[in-house]
Amino acid sequence: MKIGVLTGGGDCPGLNAVIRAVVRKGSFHYGDQFVGFMEGWRGLLENITMPLDLATVGGILPRGGTILRTSRTNPSKHSDGLQRCAANLKQNGCDALIAIGGDDTLSVAQKLFTNGVKVVGVPKTIDNDLAGTDFTFGFDTAVNVATGAIDRVHTTAEAHNRVIVVEVMGRDSGWIASYSGIAGGADVILIPEVPFDIDEVAELIKQRHGRGRYFTIVVAAEGAKFAGTSEKPDDSETDEFGHARLGGIGLKLAGEIEKRTGFETRSVVLGHIQRGGSPSAFDRVLATRYGLGAIDMVHRGEFGRMAALRGNKIISIPLAEAIASNRKVDKEILDAATGILDRLEEKAAG
Ligand code: F6P
Repeated sequence: MKIGVLTGGGDCPGLNAVIRAVVRKGSFHYGDQFVGFMEGWRGLLENITMPLDLATVGGILPRGGTILRTSRTNPSKHSDGLQRCAANLKQNGCDALIAIGGDDTLSVAQKLFTNGVKVVGVPKTIDNDLAGTDFTFGFDTAVNVATGAIDRVHTTAEAHNRVIVVEVMGRDSGWIASYSGIAGGADVILIPEVPFDIDEVAELIKQRHGRGRYFTIVVAAEGAKFAGTSEKPDDSETDEFGHARLGGIGLKLAGEIEKRTGFETRSVVLGHIQRGGSPSAFDRVLATRYGLGAIDMVHRGEFGRMAALRGNKIISIPLAEAIASNRKVDKEILDAATGILDRLEEKAAG
């Protein structure tokens, strides 16, 4: 078979490991040929391709980013976008397409599938918020980066008697904040799923310092929200999927905490450092397994579906299920994240 491959949306450590696994198993096992569509859906829309074979995937396993490059192009926003994608696949002689991406990329894959394109999806996002799969690759690497940063921030916060707010990625869900907060021993963890009361956060920090602790580490997901405000991020800069550019909650929080507690406070934004660099061993293995799962799905004719991890098995689920909702931090992790934190003591009445 001849198979097109693309990577869409924000990049993620492990993308190259997926591409490598697809091409190696496809070439060795099935005798497939491949076409790389570059820069996400833009490549398929505008027919920008690169050769994809055993030579091109040599040595890419430990490399971050994606050799196919990526973009947040949404074909539905371009005239005849979906039709042009289908036509370019045909023009390149492709029998099927493997689309590696998050909910945005996979929502386009689902549209193409309903338009007759034979497409298989692979779940990707450092945010770990895709429905239907236990983990997405890239998440473990991001958590390790964030945990390392929290460890470093700890020693300087302690040395200076400071509060330090660490802003991590997580647009709609707080998986990175929860995992790195637990692993790094954060004192306050703020996630999009649970809007926070800034007065309670400040009171908790004051109580903690009153008990003889002179520093505090706050981990906040970029999508964390102040309770009772409907404040939305500035949406003057949205991408083609309608997402506003986030960032800035850490700085805002630091100001509000310092104002309320009087403690010197700083903020650190980890940003794209979490997405860059070499994937962890866990992510290399997971990404490889997803790639192998995806090429097998193509040959089993399981189109309109996505490779998914359930327990320790790679299975296949409908793309429609994966894009139906955003996966929030589950109760077990929420309990673990809150169970180890200082609790706000009730003030005595009167
Ligand atoms: O891909 C998910 C994500 O990493 C979010 O956590 C973050 O809000 C967004 O991407 C940033 O996107 P960009 O790299 O386009 O600024």
